[in-house]
Amino acid sequence: MADFPQVRLRRLRRTETLRTLIRENSVEVGDLIYPMFVVEGEGIKEEITSMPGIFHYSPDRLSPEIEEVARLKIPGVLLFGIPENKDEAGSSARHSEGVVQQAIRIIKDSVPELIVITDVCLCEYTSHGHCGIVTNGQVDNDQTLPLLAEMAVSHVEAGADIVAPSDMMDGRVKIIREALDGKGFQQVPILSYAAKYASAFYGPFREAAESEPQFGDRRAYQMDPPNAREALREVEQDIAEGADIIMIKPALAYLDVIRQVRDTFNYPLAAYNVSGEYAMVKAAAQRGWLDERRVVLEILTAIKRAGADIILTYHAKELAQWLQAE
Ligand code: PBG
Repeated sequence: MADFPQVRLRRLRRTETLRTLIRENSVEVGDLIYPMFVVEGEGIKEEITSMPGIFHYSPDRLSPEIEEVARLKIPGVLLFGIPENKDEAGSSARHSEGVVQQAIRIIKDSVPELIVITDVCLCEYTSHGHCGIVTNGQVDNDQTLPLLAEMAVSHVEAGADIVAPSDMMDGRVKIIREALDGKGFQQVPILSYAAKYASAFYGPFREAAESEPQFGDRRAYQMDPPNAREALREVEQDIAEGADIIMIKPALAYLDVIRQVRDTFNYPLAAYNVSGEYAMVKAAAQRGWLDERRVVLEILTAIKRAGADIILTYHAKELAQWLQAE
């Protein structure tokens, strides 16, 4: 093998054109999904305190934002709903007139080609803030499953293109697949949050989605952060149950998991650059402590380099703007 001084790795770093030529990874607007929060009501557009630049929209205020997302050529959005009424069973999650169902129809009317992905989970809809039915102080896996299936079906009936279960109940991909097929929705893909960790990085989201659990935490269903082998089992299981796209969440503290899943499974792989990851960058940038644009590009490129094909990120719009301006 050649050695120094024949080998000089700096030769190919000399100019920007040379660097561009040998660049191994890049992030493109076409890789991104923009998460959005829709709240029940009218005339609402309110910034989320811990997520500067991200807003709550009532369905009637969505269209301009959606048109902007489409103009920036971002391929899709992920919808979260914040209902007016919460109850023990999260009933408003399944109504044909629920907040997400209304939002889907509005989006599909204004920009039909935009991919609408919906988050399927009960936590924003339950009075206790847990992701399923609670019996004897525990989230009951099997009682929760049919409710998730109904929720997914009602999203697809409203026009959702992809459903994304994020609840971490065992068996939910299977039951959702069966329910969709039973209604003739064989063509609708499932993006499963296959390896979703019980992470402190969801902090700002819980403020945004009003989904903080009222007692306990989510560690009895979301994954334990130190585990990586278990993530491979979660992914394997979701694939066996019929998931079409696999997701790892959060992204930054789990790049190793993204890499292992990429090397083990030949499935499209998504990573969720979550609210806390976004908030950290925003907070430091606001103080002038970081060059925001370079940091965002570096983070998103790292997620691609780790092996993700798709990135769900609150930075989607700004990244698209920066890339367009170049
Ligand atoms: C649950 C859900 C959560 C997020 C997406 N779906 C929060 C949680 O599990 O507590 C977090 C997203 C983010 O932090 O950006 N429905």
